[in-house]
This record gives sequence, structure tokens and C-alpha cells, in this order.
Amino acid sequence: MNFFLETLKVIGLSFYYFLESLVFLIVPKRKKNVSGEIVLVTGAGSGIGRLLSLKFASLGATVVLWDINQEGLKETSRLVKQNGAVRVHCYICDCSKREDIYRVADQVKKEVGDVTILVNNAGVVTGKTFLDAPDPLVEKTMEVNIMAHFWTYKAFLPAMIASNHGHLVSIASSAGLVGVNRLSDVFSSRWPNLLPLLDPEYVAEKIVTAIRQDQVILVLPRFGYLVMFLKSILPVKTAILLADYLGILNLMDNFKGRAKKD
Ligand SMILES: NC(=O)c1ccc[n+]([C@@H]2O[C@H](COP(=O)([O-])OP(=O)(O)OC[C@H]3O[C@@H](n4cnc5c(N)ncnc54)[C@H](O)[C@@H]3O)[C@@H](O)[C@H]2O)c1
Repeated sequence: MNFFLETLKVIGLSFYYFLESLVFLIVPKRKKNVSGEIVLVTGAGSGIGRLLSLKFASLGATVVLWDINQEGLKETSRLVKQNGAVRVHCYICDCSKREDIYRVADQVKKEVGDVTILVNNAGVVTGKTFLDAPDPLVEKTMEVNIMAHFWTYKAFLPAMIASNHGHLVSIASSAGLVGVNRLSDVFSSRWPNLLPLLDPEYVAEKIVTAIRQDQVILVLPRFGYLVMFLKSILPVKTAILLADYLGILNLMDNFKGRAKKD
């Protein structure tokens, strides 16, 4: 295709996609049926991973639960079954270790089948300032929060491509949009109404809906969309000044860690 036609195509499609997104602002997208899908959730032993597992199981999916925390996995499995779902498979997998991921992935393929929705949710929080964080802890964070996504994709994506059916989900943190001193699960902003603590149940429901509607990016709280926009137009110094003023830079100062593994 020559340059002129190629440019015309890009302009036409851009216009079409823009109109399409406007339409979907008014008319909600249909939610796809996930019954019969094989959904793997990493870090399913607690928190958001547990809630996502419960929701997918209640929608008729087979759920494959990964975690390093055996007790947590057992509890999630019990809750899934208590809700009436039976297709639940638990695996201890240390997502900071590539070999462990590949080994357990092979086991899942043999024992359950090809994963069709992969939710990379497992995450660790250092809770320390950059210079105070011990090197092994920094490495562990990178291995679990980032590298594990690559290894799980390598393990499960080929079958999705072969069957032209699959969905990859990466749970990250909107704290990454700005950069926050320490990382924490306790909120101490000067602007609690602007940056509210989110209810995990609400977050899990939004994630499942986004997956079922094939939404490419979901930012919670919605204020994050504004942050993304401001970041792209403001001078860096102004953005940092604003983030500091709003208390975003220090919103995780009171991190104490998880008191008890559930
Ligand atoms: N809770 C929040 O405020 C918040 C905010 C933004 C983003 N997130 C992200 O959402 C995800 C879930 O958060 P959460 O609050 O439910 O966390 P959580 O601590 O309750 O759950 C994380 C799970 O990951 C598991 N895990 C940790 N290391 C692992 C490893 N090496 N291998 C396998 N499993 C491992 C833990 O055992 C735990 O069950 C994380 O990726 C987190 O970064 C959470």
C-alpha cells in the first residue's frame, strides 16, 4: 500500500475508533460469558486474588489458584466450594522463580487443560524507602510483580494463540503512575475524598467487568485517568509539586505490612 492510502487508512480508523469509544461511553459493552473458561489467578490466597477467584467460579469458570501461601489457598478453595462451585484447582507456586512457574504451568496443562484467562495478580510490597530496601527484597519485588508476568505469558500464551482464544490480565498499581514514597496498604492522604481507599469487593467487580467487556486498560480510582492526562501535559516539576500537595507522594507512609497472612 502506498503512503497516501496508508495515511488515509490510519486517519479513517482513528476516527472510527474514537466514535466507537464515544458510543461505548453511552451504551455499555456486552459482557462476555466466562462459563467454561479456565481462569488462572496468581496470588489467589488472599485479597483481590481471592475475590477474583470467587467471582470467576460463581460465573461458571474453572478456577486454577496459585499462591505460595498454602493456608490462604485452602481458604480460597473452601470459600469457592462453599459458594457451590466445584471446578477449583490449587497449586503452590512461587512466582518469583521462573523454573517453578514453568513446572507448575506444565502440571496445570496436564491436569486441568489450557488456561484461557490468565490473571497475574500476585504482588509483594517492600514498604521501605528506596535506599532502605534490602537488595534481595528489591529483586523479589521485580521477580514477582514484573518478571512472573513474562514467564506465565510464555507458558500459557502459545496455546491461546493456537486456539485464537484467550485473555491476559496484568494487575498493577496506580501508585506507579506517579511514584510514591514507600509502598503501603494504608492510606494517609490529605485528600481522602479525592483519593479514596477502595473497597476490595468494588475493585474485584470492576476488574471482572473489565475482563468480560474486553476493556484494555482499567484505572482505579478513576482519578488515575486524570493523573495520566496531567502527567503527559504538565512540566515534571509542576506534576511533582501537585502530587506532593495532594499528599500522593506520601500516601503510603504508614505502611505496617500485613499483620497476619490470611
Ligand atoms: N491492595 C491495594 O491497595 C492494591 C493497590 C494497587 C495494586 N494492588 C495490586 O493488586 C494485587 C493484589 O493485591 P492485594 O492487596 O490483594 O495483595 P495481597 O497481599 O492480599 O495478595 C497478594 C497475594 O500474592 C501472594 N504472593 C506473594 N508473593 C508470591 C509469590 N512469590 N508467588 C506466589 N504468590 C505470591 C501472597 O501470598 C498473597 O496471597 C497486587 O499485585 C498488588 O500490587 C493492590
